[in-house]
Order: sequence, then structure tokens, then C-alpha cells
Amino acid sequence: MTTQFSVADIELELYRYPAKQESNLQAWDAADEHLIKHIQESQQHPVSTAIINDSFGALSTALTKHNPDWPLIIETDAKTSQLGIKQNLQHNQLSSDNIQWCNSRDLLPVSIELVLMKLPKNLNYLAHQLDRLSQILPKGTTIYIGAKAKSINKSLLELLAKHLGTATASLTWKKTRVITCISDGIVRALPAETRWSVPEYQLTISNLSNVFAANKLDIGARIMLENMPKGEFNSIVDLGCGNGILGLRAKQLYPTATIHFVDDSEMAIASARKNWQFNHLDNSSLEGEQASFHWDDCLTHLDENVCPDLVLCNPPFHQGEAITDHIAWQMFLDAFRKLKEGGILHVVGNRHLAYHVKLKRIFKNCTTVASNGKFVILQAQKMPKSS
Ligand SMILES: C[S@@+](CC[C@H](N)C(=O)[O-])C[C@H]1O[C@@H](n2cnc3c(N)ncnc32)[C@H](O)[C@@H]1O
Repeated sequence: MTTQFSVADIELELYRYPAKQESNLQAWDAADEHLIKHIQESQQHPVSTAIINDSFGALSTALTKHNPDWPLIIETDAKTSQLGIKQNLQHNQLSSDNIQWCNSRDLLPVSIELVLMKLPKNLNYLAHQLDRLSQILPKGTTIYIGAKAKSINKSLLELLAKHLGTATASLTWKKTRVITCISDGIVRALPAETRWSVPEYQLTISNLSNVFAANKLDIGARIMLENMPKGEFNSIVDLGCGNGILGLRAKQLYPTATIHFVDDSEMAIASARKNWQFNHLDNSSLEGEQASFHWDDCLTHLDENVCPDLVLCNPPFHQGEAITDHIAWQMFLDAFRKLKEGGILHVVGNRHLAYHVKLKRIFKNCTTVASNGKFVILQAQKMPKSS
């Protein structure tokens, strides 16, 4: 895996987040290089610039290296991206004094004069991001969007025109192109959340545009719901909660428990919180907070006083466009670290992902609770130290 980023006169050493991971993936791609090359060649002045969807900081660190006074507004929905950008700034001894951090729902500052963006895979999320930009960008503002050439077609350019302004694509370089979109100054309304119900559990779910399982229950989640663990639980983590479906059901089954929802996506956390409230899951016979919501990379920053007796997990098997099992690994390791003795991790996964091998290595035990042709539900217990 190469870590040396070199474009024009900008040299950086860049790592994915977390830096130590058992994957051979690079922290940037050719579309990042193309965007930086484009900015250099057009001799862009260091005006107030929003950087959107920068995976691990290639764009943010390159502009900061080029001109440490360049004012940046960095918007990301993924906590791992924000942490990765901070890590790479620090690693390359670059200051973050001129950086304003935003998540995918924060109000964007009206001072933005230029936008640099990576094309997200999810086009509903892209439309949402463009609508957000339409609310603050003056007419005539330039938005550069870097993407693989094969992702750029007539309907993408039409989508950009519909949600922000006319767009044209550059020539291809290293199989990527840079789209130049010029905002038309027309303000668009933000999209409505998608809402669907799970009648068998009397739950109504709403999802913001970048949340997993956009308009129906995930099939892995469904088999998990049909095979929730038996027992009494007081403190439960829904790890990689998405819209919160597993944690919401857990509260119905274990009404005295406190549920901790954790996800890398800020929109997921916002949706889980909304779904908790909408489904009236607070137990009126209890006092105090019965749910907490954390925008985080796995359980990195979960309060040390939280010692769950159950962790529910439907792990992701990709990060951005890359297929990887390192997040599942980290989720299992974090669950083992945080669980109290005797506590259990309850996992759903595609059979072929062979999570049982990982769980056995970490927990020294693993039981198959249920399976069908495609999915398997596994349970591992944190054994008391004396046993
Ligand atoms: C397969 S989805 C499961 C969502 C939901 N629990 C369900 O069953 O429908 C995996 C979730 O893990 C989240 N995720 C990915 N990387 C993560 C990380 N490093 N830390 C926490 N959550 C992460 C994703 O945003 C996504 O919501």
C-alpha cells in the first residue's frame, strides 16, 4: 500500500483511518489527484473553500500544504473521515487553525466562495448535498466535483443541473474527470426523509438520505430481529445502528434497559434519535436517560462507565467504495473490550464472511444461533476471567 501522495509540487504522507488496519487500501484515489491538479493548473486563489466528502484528507491536506492560510470548511457525514483528516493533518505537521468542521446537517456558512467535492456513491445523498449548497451559494459560485469517468453520464449532469446549476465534465485523466458546476442561485428545499414501517414490530422508521437501508428493512436486520437473544439485559449497545432498528426492537423486548446507539454516519445517528422519539420508546416507569446517541468510530469514545451486557451488531463490509472486513474486526474487538464479564455480542452476517473465525479468535467461543441459506446469527460471550 502506498502512502506517498505526490501531485504537482505537493508531497504528503497519507493514511486511512484508523492508520493501523489490516487492509491494503490507499487513503486517496485518482479523482483526488485530479481535483488537486485541476486547482493547481487553474491557479486558484485561496478563497473560502468548502471541501465535501474528503475520505481521509487528501484534498484538505493538499490545499493546506499548498497554502497554510487557505480557509477551509470541511463537511463530512463520516466520523472516520473527520478523524482521518485530523490524523493526516497532524501527521504532515499541518495546522488546522484555518479549518471549520461541519457534519452533513450543520448549517453551512454563507461565506463559501468555492466548493471541492468527491462524488458520493449514493445519488440521493448527492442530491441532498446539492440542495444544501443551493441554500447558501450565490449565483455563479464554482463547484468542482471529482469522480471516476465511468460514474459520469448525462443523467448525473442533469441531476446536478436540477439541484444546483449547469455542469460540464473535463477530459479524462487517469480514468477520472472533474465536473465543473456553476450554481444558479436558486434555493431548493431539502428532501423529505423516507419513511417506512415494520408492521410485525409496530415500528415506524424514517431515514435521512445517507442512512443504510434507505426505504426498507435490510434482510440481515430482519433475520436478526427474528432471533434476538433471550435473557435480561440492562445496558445494550446497537453498534453500527443505522436507523436504529435493532436498538429500538431491543427496547421493546427489554423495557428496563438503556440503549446506546453508535454509528459512523451523523445522519444515521440523527435518524436513530428521531426513530426513538417517534416510536415513543421511553419507558414511563423509569427515570433518567434511557437512550444515548454517539457519532463515533466503533466504540472508541464510548463513556468508560458504559459496560454493556449485550452488543447487537450488523457490521458493514465496505468502507466507502472499498470492500473490507477491518471495520467488523474493530467492532468485535471493541465489543470484547467494552462488554462486562458474561456479556454477549450478537452478530448477523453473510455466511461467506466467516465472522465465526474472528469471534473465536477474540472471544475463544462462538455459537451459531440461527442461519438460513445466506445469513448466520452468531453469539460470542465474554467469559469471566476466572473461567
Ligand atoms: C450493515 S449496516 C447496519 C445498520 C443497522 N444496524 C441495520 O441492521 O439495519 C452497518 C452500519 O455500520 C455503520 N458503520 C460503518 N463504519 C462504522 C464505524 N467505523 N463505526 C461505527 N459504525 C460504522 C454504517 O454507517 C452502517 O449504518
